[in-house]
Amino acid sequence: MDDLRSNDPEGVIAADKAHVWHHLIQHKPFETIDPRIIVEGKGMRVWDIRGREYLDAVSGGVWTVNVGYGRERIADAVRDQLVKMCYFAGASGTVAGAEFAERLISKMPGLSRVYYANSGSEANEKAFKMVRAISHKHHGGKKGKILYRDRDYHGTTIGALSAGGQQERNARFGPFAPGFIEVPHCLEYQAQPELAGPDYGVKAAEAIEAVILREGPDEIGALCLEPVTAGGGCIVPPTGYWEKVQEICRKYDILLHIDEVVCGLGRTGTWFGYQQFGVEPDIVTMAKGVASGYAAISTCVTTEAVFDAFKDADDPLGHFRDISTFGGCASGPVAALENMKIIEEEGLCENSAAMGEYLLEGFRKLEAKHEAIGEVRGLGLFAGIELVESRESRKPLTEKLVGRVQAEALADDVMIGAANRSVPGYNNVLLFAPALIATRDDIDRIVAAVDAGLTRALA
Ligand SMILES: Cc1ncc(COP(=O)(O)O)c(C=O)c1O
Repeated sequence: MDDLRSNDPEGVIAADKAHVWHHLIQHKPFETIDPRIIVEGKGMRVWDIRGREYLDAVSGGVWTVNVGYGRERIADAVRDQLVKMCYFAGASGTVAGAEFAERLISKMPGLSRVYYANSGSEANEKAFKMVRAISHKHHGGKKGKILYRDRDYHGTTIGALSAGGQQERNARFGPFAPGFIEVPHCLEYQAQPELAGPDYGVKAAEAIEAVILREGPDEIGALCLEPVTAGGGCIVPPTGYWEKVQEICRKYDILLHIDEVVCGLGRTGTWFGYQQFGVEPDIVTMAKGVASGYAAISTCVTTEAVFDAFKDADDPLGHFRDISTFGGCASGPVAALENMKIIEEEGLCENSAAMGEYLLEGFRKLEAKHEAIGEVRGLGLFAGIELVESRESRKPLTEKLVGRVQAEALADDVMIGAANRSVPGYNNVLLFAPALIATRDDIDRIVAAVDAGLTRALA
């Protein structure tokens, strides 16, 4: 097996087919077709093992490679770090860890502490554990329940799935952890009948308050929300929503935990998604774009008040008794630091905002031609197109047909995303998250591929 190289495509494919268990995909078709193997990336483009070139409109499939592929300066920084000091457990510090934390905090006024881990799920688990530990230490076991929202996703572990608002993601993995309570989604286009109408944003937030009152405010410790729901259908919260959510959290002394795993690091056009809405969170988790996939790193960032809740030298169980072995890998923060410098130097937050607008404009121009486009929505370079059987009924297009549009775009060598096996009956949203370096030409090509894909798939 030593001779497996990318210049031996058949050998690599055979080894993959024989031994790799791929994420999130049914393997039965691989009995007759080959899995896709990506061997190279540059900017927004990737090549597969057979040499075919694609424009990647999903930043590595799951909205991760924010600064694009082939960044030698990140690789160089990681290499230099690894030969000097690759790893030490996080009870000690590293130079890169201190430097990145300082720079990250400079982008997040009101927050001051950075806890390192290595996946989005893990960062969210840390946040949940902090809330539970604060409940035990400071509230006599009260304020331990955690609210999450219908259609949001916070990760793949059993704890994170317990806070998962996507029932198809969760299906067959229960039983889940107790103490996680669902609140309604805030997608106005598919509004809950009892909330539909004027001031939907305020009403959707008040629906959270109703859940709090039902459960008892002194039982609720935190509310965990995505700033813009990503895989659940690209849901940008409606006007009035966030202000009301913030007010409710303050009123009932509930920690606001924002999951920036997708929206962080420029994806929506500001450093963090919550900054679009003037929100002041207590806990922010992030992963994916933190190092753009050049290293596995996530962080759970908190206020000093949350941090201080764990300071008690007289209590042997008082500190945050949690560890992430690989949260001590120095490659993570060093890659994250370079990644952040690139975003700053190249103005990628600004580009995300500008190109995001251009992308939405391009999609909206397709509305006149394609009846199946129910709603175009997004923020910065995270965008979605909700596909429907008819605009009048807003009945979702089937997941199968949505998949066909995606496949047709791929036939034009453009990789686009789609909600899949997430929200029962509502996996009808095409999803886009090109790298933040996208140009107008790249966007034109993505829009053209969607146009052609819709035409061919729904003819
Ligand atoms: C909003 C959100 N949170 C958390 C996660 C989990 O991240 P990870 O797959 O790194 O555990 C994801 C993954 O897609 C996500 O979209």
